[in-house]
Amino acid sequence: MHALIAVLPGDGIGPEVTAEAVRALTAVASTFGHSFEFETALLGGAAIDATGEAMPAATLELCQRADAVLLGAVGGPQWSAPDAKVRPEQGLLGLRKALGLFANLRPVVPHPAVLDASPIKAELLHGVDIMVVRELTGGIYFGDKHRTATEAVDVCRYTVTEIERVVRLAAELARGRRRKLTSVDKANVLETSRLWRSIVERILPGEYPDVAFEHMLVDSAAMHLIKRPRDFDVIVTENMFGDILTDEASMLAGSLGLLPSASLGANGRGGLFEPIHGSAPDIAGKGIANPYATILSAAMLLRYSLKLEAEALALEAAVSRAVVDGKLPADIAAPGVKPVSTRAAGDAVLAALK
Ligand code: IPM
Ligand code: MN
Repeated sequence: MHALIAVLPGDGIGPEVTAEAVRALTAVASTFGHSFEFETALLGGAAIDATGEAMPAATLELCQRADAVLLGAVGGPQWSAPDAKVRPEQGLLGLRKALGLFANLRPVVPHPAVLDASPIKAELLHGVDIMVVRELTGGIYFGDKHRTATEAVDVCRYTVTEIERVVRLAAELARGRRRKLTSVDKANVLETSRLWRSIVERILPGEYPDVAFEHMLVDSAAMHLIKRPRDFDVIVTENMFGDILTDEASMLAGSLGLLPSASLGANGRGGLFEPIHGSAPDIAGKGIANPYATILSAAMLLRYSLKLEAEALALEAAVSRAVVDGKLPADIAAPGVKPVSTRAAGDAVLAALK
């Protein structure tokens, strides 16, 4: 098949990790006889420096035209002054909103070969396979904001439609897995959570009687994720809870550097694929960042946007092979073992694909 893939390297380590994902996708295309065309555009701090805007119109236009979007990361201290008028993160949030990407899929599957990279006991990690579905275009991220000399306000708002569509998408995913859905909220305090809970209680028994569901308060979920991670199958939750819980869950896998994500819109259309980690300005430009999360995001791109399941599996298997072969970047290398560079990790994936 022919596909146009928009590449938004962004800031910090973004360009280094996306370069490896593009190499991996190019190799997949040649192995399987596809033609992937890559077009690059600016987003985040890089876009602010070049154009004054975090999400230039040309970037949005490319993303709308493309079959899928591959993104690195945005942000950095040089754009983060408290009084900054435009921030890199606005580019990413604006893009998610403009493309209607309301569901963010973040799979957490610790790799058996690097259980030691996790600060959690290995015995708790065997068999962990969690899919977190984070609502991505609502809640406190997108409510009205204002600030005066004496106060600041962030409004958390959810509509029925916004909740229904992400809950349905999560229930569909659960159906293809172990048929268990945990809905995470803070219904003992927040009105948006009480609405969320009532919608889960209507949709699950009515439309998905074959999927078992439970409610869990977010503070309790934060604890149970560490105490008994194996018990979770699909987790569905609102925007900010999902942001926080997935950074926590990344420690089950050992590092933020291993967790990919897919952001999907209605009917699984469009799609933006990015690692859940940030731009890591402290290690940018050194060639030591872990590219596996971005390469695994490229595998999700193959699966969800291009519907190339065999190709997605081949790329995931190649990353797994590289990890088993001990090609471990600094964030997951065992103490005393020389870590591989970003490029060498990418090379290991290409070699495994052959
Ligand atoms: C993420 C990031 C973003 C978020 C930031 C960079 C705006 O932390 O994708 O998890 O909070 O959504
Ligand atoms: Mn985050």
